[in-house]
Amino acid sequence: MMGTEFLTATGLRSGYAIGDVLQGFDLAIERGEVVSVLGRNGVGKTTLMKTLIGLLPTRAGNIHFQGQDISALPADRRARLGIGYVPQGRGIFPQMTVRDNLRMGGFINRDRQTPDPEVAFSFFPFLRDRQRQRGGTLSGGQQAMLAIARALINAPDLLLLDEPSDGVQPSIVQDIGAFVRELNQSRQLTVLIVEQNIDLIQTVAQRAYVLDKGRVVADLDRERLLDTEHVATYLAV
Ligand SMILES: Nc1ncnc2c1ncn2[C@@H]1O[C@H](COP(=O)(O)OP(=O)(O)OP(=O)(O)O)[C@@H](O)[C@H]1O
Ligand SMILES: [Mg+2]
Repeated sequence: MMGTEFLTATGLRSGYAIGDVLQGFDLAIERGEVVSVLGRNGVGKTTLMKTLIGLLPTRAGNIHFQGQDISALPADRRARLGIGYVPQGRGIFPQMTVRDNLRMGGFINRDRQTPDPEVAFSFFPFLRDRQRQRGGTLSGGQQAMLAIARALINAPDLLLLDEPSDGVQPSIVQDIGAFVRELNQSRQLTVLIVEQNIDLIQTVAQRAYVLDKGRVVADLDRERLLDTEHVATYLAV
């Protein structure tokens, strides 16, 4: 792995009609790392995630994944290359059953094969009993797990998680943290996680980038991340 970066973004610019939100964002992640992106509300964390998965176009700069320039590829191609994405707010279809929600994840299946919900059930066994239930009837924590399971069905090499703790009760946040850690350790899954929940950041992340004004303004190592007061200065309000 040495020297070959798994995911890099260089000079990334992207945004909306109002202008560029990311204004030269850089990151470099090695395979097997769990890296967090921190920053106050509205600084562009979600914009970054959407740009990495390809839901927002790269206006300048580039993104390389496993040696390939993916900057111009559409989201489904990036997914097939092995990038899983759990959007902020989870993107569960509330009227659809759990099983159909999982199927939606499978539409971007890497091998274009029928997705196997068993893969999801192996991660979160409670989903098996709930597969005929509508997604919207699950609790926030269960929906978070469903969204993660939907991404994992495609066996990604990289998982992009955008605030998985949002709307989830604290004990379940801990469960999600333990799950992500275990996944990273047992499968070498690389994870980029946007989070505001300090406990979760400290549970899973080996290091972090702080995003402000469209760029990386600080790199935090594990030791810095464990300094709760320090980390809090980079978060909300
Ligand atoms: N669809 C959109 N159209 C126009 N502007 C947008 C759109 N989505 C986000 N923005 C703006 O872009 C900026 C960055 O938003 P983004 O959602 O990336 O921030 P964030 O760091 O994820 O915030 P939060 O912590 O609240 O999730 C904000 O000023 C936001 O208002
Ligand atoms: Mg966001």
